[in-house]
Amino acid sequence: MKSIVINGGRKLSGEVSISGSKNAALPIIAASLLCEGEHRIANVPSLVDVKTLAKIMRNMGVSVELTDHEAVIDSTRLASPEAPYDLVRTMRASVLVLGPLVARFGKARVSLPGGCAIGARPVNLHIMGLEKMGAEVSIEHGYIEAKAKRLSGAQIYFDIVTVTGTENLMMAAALADGETVLENAAKEPEVVDLANALIQMGARIEGAGTDIIRIKGVEKLRPMDHRVLPDRIETGTFIIAGAITSGNIVIRNCAPQHLDALLSKVSEAGAQIAVDKDIIRVTGTGGIKPVNVKTLPHPGFPTDMQAQIMSLMCLARGTSVINETIFENRFTHVAELRRMGADIVIEGGSAIVKGVPKLLGAPVMATDLRASASLILAGLAAEGQTVISRIYHLDRGYEDIEGKLSALGADVKRV
Ligand code: EPZ
Repeated sequence: MKSIVINGGRKLSGEVSISGSKNAALPIIAASLLCEGEHRIANVPSLVDVKTLAKIMRNMGVSVELTDHEAVIDSTRLASPEAPYDLVRTMRASVLVLGPLVARFGKARVSLPGGCAIGARPVNLHIMGLEKMGAEVSIEHGYIEAKAKRLSGAQIYFDIVTVTGTENLMMAAALADGETVLENAAKEPEVVDLANALIQMGARIEGAGTDIIRIKGVEKLRPMDHRVLPDRIETGTFIIAGAITSGNIVIRNCAPQHLDALLSKVSEAGAQIAVDKDIIRVTGTGGIKPVNVKTLPHPGFPTDMQAQIMSLMCLARGTSVINETIFENRFTHVAELRRMGADIVIEGGSAIVKGVPKLLGAPVMATDLRASASLILAGLAAEGQTVISRIYHLDRGYEDIEGKLSALGADVKRV
């Protein structure tokens, strides 16, 4: 079992380049199931989750080549529209193959993703949408069995904003007969990036990025040649790394316009932020001020940055309230931060974080992807050594984070 060892207390300085977005690459790779021919996708991050999706698609008979940050995919010879449990359970986002498979092949057998550390993660809204489009869906022996001669356009209202639900149904609707309207749709930048890829494939989509997306189905699509947008959560994680170490770093190849909520909170906490096109400069100014945070669907504060800003608030001069409204169990990092001396009390969906003068390095355990990032951030600022175990969680969503942090002057290594 690998671990990451950090000797804290160093101010970060220098430059870091952001990788492509995990949460855009996954749906866009799945979209290559929608039509024959060779799809080329650039700026694909080298992550375990991307490799898992590639394995699932190869298992169906699709040819997927992952080279240096590029995916070349040809789904012409797709043999079996099935995603097996032993692969799907390692990555819930595999459910993103469901919509494209039903749309292109008229059937799909996809394992129910099951829950994960942060919550039950149901996919009922994905299924509701497909049924509204005329698919027959049943759940048998832990698998979603879906079939439809041809999907028809439908009016679909999401009573909860769902990112992959919006993405799955947008892909399904691209080949449906007639128009589909998705209401209360997710507005995340990754949804917009997927829509752009689909439009390039010939899909007719309007309103991506707003809460009403209209998709007019077409008979056929053509292969894409698309570049994935930068990862805003990796960007946010490095912004906090600069602030929590009172460092001075330059973040390149990012998309500041996708991070308004985070940037305003980190500025409110006292860091100096300078934004210029695809560059963000972060200068930590010593004193960290407490801020209150409520996670919301985009453009609200991203739930995927909640654990990371909590690490920063552990060292604020005062008390912060962090309210997690998206997932029911996304505070698993709290117990680990407490081991490092943090003063945090959980009340229902909120964490009350009382700043302490310093954190002390300790052996801690990663529990999920973003919790791992929050422990790394705390370890960078803590006095002494922090050893983070179970870092396979980290490798799902961060490309070479220890290499990028070392290049910024951190004392971090993988053992
Ligand atoms: C996406 O997950 C992201 N993953 C998550 O990032 C992110 O935390 C989440 O959106 C919220 O922004 C990818 O894009 C691959 P949801 P997703 O459907 O789509 C409930 C990371 O760290 N819900 O938007 O699975 C659900 O339980 C990961 O990179 C239903 O009730 O999240 C949750 O409470 C973690 N029924 C809320 O909606 C459904 O059918 C939002 O979930 C679907 C969702």
